[in-house]
Amino acid sequence: MGIVDGEKNTIMTLIDRYAVFGHPIKHSKSPRIHRLFAEQTGQTLEYTAQEVPAEQFETTVARFFAEGGKGLNCTVPLKELAWNYASHKTERAQLSKAVNTLALQPDGSILGDNTDGIGLVTDLTANHGIALSGIRILILGAGGASRGIILPILEQSPQSLVIANRTMDKAIKLAAEFHGKAHAPYLHPVGKGPITGCGFDDLEDRQFDLILNATSASLSGQLPPLPTGLLAAGGNCYDLAYGNEPTAFVRWGRGNHAAKSLDGLGMLVEQAAEAFFIWRGVRPETRPVIELLDSERQP
Ligand code: ATR
Repeated sequence: MGIVDGEKNTIMTLIDRYAVFGHPIKHSKSPRIHRLFAEQTGQTLEYTAQEVPAEQFETTVARFFAEGGKGLNCTVPLKELAWNYASHKTERAQLSKAVNTLALQPDGSILGDNTDGIGLVTDLTANHGIALSGIRILILGAGGASRGIILPILEQSPQSLVIANRTMDKAIKLAAEFHGKAHAPYLHPVGKGPITGCGFDDLEDRQFDLILNATSASLSGQLPPLPTGLLAAGGNCYDLAYGNEPTAFVRWGRGNHAAKSLDGLGMLVEQAAEAFFIWRGVRPETRPVIELLDSERQP
């Protein structure tokens, strides 16, 4: 349904508008995912992708909401800018220092959330049956992608969480930021609690039940230097990145006898489902959407 604005002779739709902003954005699967969710749940909405360079972020977001937009997803390299833009934030977004979902509130304010971590946890636990409680977890990388997933992982009460990074200092600092969060055991001082940071060299002779790759190395087909024996027998691997072909880390997991070696397609769909829920109050079924997208990348 639409109304005609006589003066400009344009059609202004009454449909609720959503979009993903990023740079680049051409290959984003988000419009497809949200349209599938809308179809499945009978929600009427529009969801588009818009190329937005960082320097135009603030004005473009302000215009989007001023013109009646209801919610936005923000992706690379705009998540930190979205964090700054939001009038208020959820705790997980606050700690992530990155926002991937902006939602217009009834009072006109803009809520910022980060659904990446909960998307990852849901994919691991609900879709793949990998329980995080009581296990030894390693995150590779200490950049924005790592920061976004830490709190939701801690909330699952793992036995330990280690962050390993090429630049060791960043891993130690990042771990320290999360001490005291989620559960009492995390109140230990730096380096002593269940969440610790280290360099790749410190991984020698250690074992983990779940290894998560959150480095950007994957995107260029590279791998951090990982010792053999790092993955415990029966352990799992998960790359936050995804592609049409298995990533270098997914291949590493397979080569190291992971029970499951997964990429981030499920996380992508789950983070979108969480955003959809924030905006629409309705939870879409993710499994058919993951299966559809997965089937389209098989040879
Ligand atoms: P993102 O938002 O994707 O996390 P980022 O904040 O730039 O991007 O962080 C990139 C992460 O990937 C960092 O942990 C980086 O390690 P450094 O902090 O030492 O730079 C890691 N990374 C990138 N390329 C890598 C490589 N070839 N080997 C190992 N780690 C790499």
